[in-house]
Amino acid sequence: MLVTSQRDSGKRKGLHSRMPLSRVKNKLYTKAIMNRPSVLLVFGGESSEHDISLSSARNVYAAIDDKLFHVDPVYIDRHGKWWLLKSFGQEVSLEGAVQLVPALGAASFLTLPYNRIIRPDVILPILHGKNGEDGAIQGLARLLHIPIVGCDMEASSLCMDKVATKVILAHHGIDVVPYETHRDGQPTPDGDALAERLGFPLFVKPARSGSSIGVSRVAHAEQLTDALAAAHEHDSVALIEKGVTARELEVAVLGNPPRHEISKVGEIHPDGDFYSYDAKYAAASMSGVIVPAVIEASQAEHIRKIASRVYELLGCEGMARVDFFLTGAGKLYVNEVNTIPGFTNISMYPKLWQASGVSYTKLIERLIRLALKKNR
Ligand SMILES: Nc1ncnc2c1ncn2[C@@H]1O[C@H](COP(=O)(O)OP(=O)(O)O)[C@@H](O)[C@H]1O
Ligand SMILES: [Mg+2]
Repeated sequence: MLVTSQRDSGKRKGLHSRMPLSRVKNKLYTKAIMNRPSVLLVFGGESSEHDISLSSARNVYAAIDDKLFHVDPVYIDRHGKWWLLKSFGQEVSLEGAVQLVPALGAASFLTLPYNRIIRPDVILPILHGKNGEDGAIQGLARLLHIPIVGCDMEASSLCMDKVATKVILAHHGIDVVPYETHRDGQPTPDGDALAERLGFPLFVKPARSGSSIGVSRVAHAEQLTDALAAAHEHDSVALIEKGVTARELEVAVLGNPPRHEISKVGEIHPDGDFYSYDAKYAAASMSGVIVPAVIEASQAEHIRKIASRVYELLGCEGMARVDFFLTGAGKLYVNEVNTIPGFTNISMYPKLWQASGVSYTKLIERLIRLALKKNR
């Protein structure tokens, strides 16, 4: 809940309540509105996926049910400062915004200036990549004593790291695409030897990134050095992975094990060689999302079972999207697990739930309630 000083309480309420209370006649309704859990919707952030986070968060902000939740939009700028915004529209405006600083152990933040106390009931991080999806903000929430939507610190950090994810899944007998790791500063591996071990094409990618940023398809050994440099712009560890010719299938998971639910299987049709950043987000992209994927029922069931197991093995809670490759020969690999999947207009996670009968608004409500319940 937002706690305000006497001096500015009226102004504050007007600022953040998207439904003017003066219009609310019914007393019970007014009480319910006053008692709504307060949600800190956090977006932006220091990662290369800052802009994607804004698109996702704009959708979430629009979809969230005002009657059920009071929402405070909080923008993390590219330097990592947190701003409580006056409003959140098409553009992020810092006009009238105040900075937030955490009061550890006190389940609250202080504003700068004015030292107002902000006491959210839950943090809803719609952030991708560094400091958002990698356990950092989840750790902060733990130190603040505020529940946070989605996976906790350990699972977030594990799933963010494509190498760590593969090591754990392979250990449990789940197939992952063969790969090698490369550290920044090491020599470029010999092309012929790589061709023998993994074959071309290869995919080179940062170990901890997303949205295909820093990902390259490497058709020839001569492209390897540049591809590694591109990946190392985002991470000191890169993966050199065998390129597979495969369908890209994705499954959404919702809930806290053992009562997590598994969506239908969706399929990505990338516009181009692979599902690159542009294929995902460029306005002119012809990439498509097919829900449900046209796939045999028994195969879909098998994929959903593996998604469920992966979610449990990695310690996920709240939500995650499990991404697969399915080759023409029928070989199934888990590619990666996204603990804060996209919520943009084209994003698979909300689409999969819509297809399973859970609307965007209901999905956000369920995610928030899961976090609140976990805390209790
Ligand atoms: N081993 C691979 N074989 C074929 N395509 C791949 C491979 N690895 C990645 N890709 C392509 O690159 C895209 C982005 O890679 P991914 O591992 O999902 O990273 P990100 O976390 O950035 O989404 C995938 O959706 C797929 O189109
Ligand atoms: Mg991906």
